[in-house]
Amino acid sequence: MSDLKREIENRRTFAIISHPDAGKTTITEKFLLYGGAIQEAGMVKGKKNSRHAVSDWMEIEKQRGISVTSSVLQFRYNGKCINILDTPGHQDFSEDTYRTLMAADSAVMVIDASKGVEAQTRKLFKVCAMRGVPIFTFINKMDREARDPYELLEEIENELGIGTYAVNWPIGSGKRFRGVYDRMDDQVIQFDGADFKHEVKATRLSIDDPVLEGTLPKEQYDTLCDDIELLSGAGDDFDLAAVHAGKLSPVFFGSALTNFGVEPFLEKFLQMSTPPSARTADIGVIDPFDPHFSAFVFKIQANMNKAHRDRVAFMRICSGKFERGQEVLHVQGGKKMALAAPQQMMAQDRSIVDEAYAGDIIGIFDPGVFSIGDTVCDPKKKCVFSGIPTFAPELFAGVRQKDTLKRKQFVKGCEQIAQEGAIQIFREPGTGMEAVIVGVVGVLQFEVLEYRLKNEYNVEIIRENLPYEHVRWVENDEEDFDIKSLQLTSDTKIVEDLKGNSLLLFTSPWNITYATDHNKNLRLAEFSENA
Ligand code: G4P
Repeated sequence: MSDLKREIENRRTFAIISHPDAGKTTITEKFLLYGGAIQEAGMVKGKKNSRHAVSDWMEIEKQRGISVTSSVLQFRYNGKCINILDTPGHQDFSEDTYRTLMAADSAVMVIDASKGVEAQTRKLFKVCAMRGVPIFTFINKMDREARDPYELLEEIENELGIGTYAVNWPIGSGKRFRGVYDRMDDQVIQFDGADFKHEVKATRLSIDDPVLEGTLPKEQYDTLCDDIELLSGAGDDFDLAAVHAGKLSPVFFGSALTNFGVEPFLEKFLQMSTPPSARTADIGVIDPFDPHFSAFVFKIQANMNKAHRDRVAFMRICSGKFERGQEVLHVQGGKKMALAAPQQMMAQDRSIVDEAYAGDIIGIFDPGVFSIGDTVCDPKKKCVFSGIPTFAPELFAGVRQKDTLKRKQFVKGCEQIAQEGAIQIFREPGTGMEAVIVGVVGVLQFEVLEYRLKNEYNVEIIRENLPYEHVRWVENDEEDFDIKSLQLTSDTKIVEDLKGNSLLLFTSPWNITYATDHNKNLRLAEFSENA
């Protein structure tokens, strides 16, 4: 097998999706520990201790002690090269979180066993489901009182519309948590959680081992036997093709904090997940094993180092191999360039990379030429990837500059920050840029805008929150359609984005239904491919 093929086949690039506090950071940290990328627990996490999280680059992050941007962590485990795309897990997540999911080949969904499916998981799941990426579920915190496992699976199936297959099955929860039954290996992995705080020992026993009956309380042993019978009789068969199509989610139970079930999960995940997937471009499907390098930009991060006012464009490599200094074509800019100092995030540090393969993420210093969704490729095989949809913001504010003399800086700042994809800007048709409507996915993006306009452009702004919560792009062709004659509720607003696309802002889902009911030819979209 060629080096290129081996390297690419061994790559796994995935994102972890969860609601805040479900245990994403804890699991990530255990993965890094197994891979030897970090030596002690608590290194990734910056939330409550003095050390800052790996991705804490911007001053604002440090001030608030949270991570604003998504980072990429690479490590090796059992011969596999793993890229974890870390999605901000706090309430104030942003569009970057969604965009990061576009760069992943699969997703790990972490669910708190006492809470089930929560709001943020639902949103992130929707974006993964849109692309049909495989989703693996880890039901965490089994060392605490958990909800009934059947009920949890039913909730995932009903709320998210995906099938489930329990790869292992829990024996009790909380103080009565005794371990899991691994349905594929037909073994019980026992949980020896003496104090429920620290890492635990795990012992494997065959299900018909008489020792098992002796070590489990009778009632739990009987329940386990009933559960095994019920699962094999009633549940679906394991179907790997359905997993790869994003239709069936393999489910694992465990406890990340006590380190129970995380390594078996990682091992099974690596067996069941696929190497980098093929991506669609204008010239057809691009095979990851194609030796010609190709990549797309999924995130732009400004000011990673304030002293240098730098921007970094993060690219997901879709095919071939990349070598430092290689000449590439930036398709949208129509220019060839040498990518001199690509960076990669290796757990703790940013370091310069000499080579990278399909599935990897590299960060390139951006002199202001890249936009989200741009393609970069080998000039010998030009292609354009489909781009990254613009996701519907959910929070809106009217923004204008305090000092009217600073209009120029205000317009420049807003436009640049919007071009990087940190915010979306709308305006009322026929008006200029003296006051804009800013749309964001997470409230923290407003703070980032305010902070950056002040620090980088020396402009203070006045922000007035607006009551809109939903936005839809109008898909009708402009020629045979008069947007002004639409019948809308009085609190629905017509706006345009910077490219002149028309949109409607709504205060409630009811108003969206009103608009579609009263304007039969109106076509609305929740994502925009060309914004
Ligand atoms: P997040 O990144 O998804 O937001 O979650 P994170 O890993 O930060 O975990 C949230 C809290 O849940 C942390 O406690 C963490 O220790 C705890 N936790 C994670 N996994 C488990 C588990 O399997 N069992 C139990 N019992 N707890 C778990 P915290 O008190 O908020 O933070 P800390 O003081 O421990 O740092």
